[in-house]
Amino acid sequence: MLHAASLLSHRSRLSKFQRALQEIVRPESRVVDIGTGTGVLALIAARAGAKSVTAVDVNRESLNYARKAAEINGLSQNISFVESHFEDYVPEEQADIVVCEMLSSMLLVEQQVPACAHAAKRILKPGGIILPASASVYAVLVECHSLLGRFTLFDLEFPKVPQTLGKGDAKDLSDAVLVAKFDFSTPDVPAEVDEMLEYTIIEDGVLHGLVGFFKAQLYEDITLGMDDGWRELFLPLAEPVEVSKGARVSVQLRFKPDEFDSLKLGRPILS
Ligand SMILES: C[S@@+](CC[C@H](N)C(=O)[O-])C[C@H]1O[C@@H](n2cnc3c(N)ncnc32)[C@H](O)[C@@H]1O
Repeated sequence: MLHAASLLSHRSRLSKFQRALQEIVRPESRVVDIGTGTGVLALIAARAGAKSVTAVDVNRESLNYARKAAEINGLSQNISFVESHFEDYVPEEQADIVVCEMLSSMLLVEQQVPACAHAAKRILKPGGIILPASASVYAVLVECHSLLGRFTLFDLEFPKVPQTLGKGDAKDLSDAVLVAKFDFSTPDVPAEVDEMLEYTIIEDGVLHGLVGFFKAQLYEDITLGMDDGWRELFLPLAEPVEVSKGARVSVQLRFKPDEFDSLKLGRPILS
């Protein structure tokens, strides 16, 4: 629960959702908020004047917090709370607007993509609006001593796994390339990613892995990015590789939903 409440500090993110909801909510709108957490987006939709708002979350503690928030803001009559995995939630009447904010740096490891696919199939009216509308995932090659060093302690080694990154933790060794694009209004989303990413090295260095991030279109010209409250994700290579400016590097990125630790990089190929 503390995590959900900490998301209230993302003011630019929440201001953008507020702007979008104030623009699209009509007095007759039925809104569903999937993964409501503190209930913040459901409360914003209710304040914007929606006819009804349904806030869905799998976490009971979050829902209790969201209920309390609705109560202290006099919005209890406007919002109903449903404890459910998104997959099991199908409304009696389809929604005009679905809000689903479970974004994460690479979108692959979290629930955003399957949750929006379910929403497009079972929750949203044909022609309804989903927030955010779409997102693209990018990845850049990096040198990153600080995070890689984390996996060695005393005389012990630990398996290398993806880690979130702080500002200044990594040095870019290439430009970013597009990994995947998701249109959240369609039920057909790629379940699996298996992409060969091609880069040109722009600076000599030691290649430790790849950093992933997203850019999302929330609604029309309103966009979301890392600066709105997300942290980039570092995907380590099994072994570091020295690279020189001008070299071409190909690296395979694989992800299988629902498989533990499946977001992985292949061995880089240099030419
Ligand atoms: C990143 S938080 C976002 C909270 C809120 N929407 C916001 O913008 O601050 C994601 C929320 O999704 C919920 N969640 C995660 N998996 C879920 C699932 N399978 N079904 C429903 N809710 C889920 C979590 O409990 C959490 O409250």
